[in-house]
Amino acid sequence: MPTLIVTNRDGSEQSVEAATNVSVMEIIRDAGVDELLALCGGCCSCATCHIYVDDSFAGQLPEVSADESDLLDSSDHRKANSRLSCQINFTSALDGMRVTIAPED
Ligand code: FES
Repeated sequence: MPTLIVTNRDGSEQSVEAATNVSVMEIIRDAGVDELLALCGGCCSCATCHIYVDDSFAGQLPEVSADESDLLDSSDHRKANSRLSCQINFTSALDGMRVTIAPED
């Protein structure tokens, strides 16, 4: 099974067995990482699923939509590698990807 490596806000890292064709948000949530609130359930309307994605996978991710970008702009912690995890469909091509939970806004 592909793996997603998640760094929590306290810097601890966990390796998660990841299903494919579900969102990265769902993988993180289903792994019991409760600091990723994902309040809107993946509807791209809350920005509480904010993560930073390993730069080496940037080219394999879907483009940031205008809605996603607007929501990320509402965060004080947006960086170049910021994404909303509910907007990334996890595929086997992303096996081994590292993501970091962004600070809470
Ligand atoms: S879960 Fe709300 S924007 Fe991703």
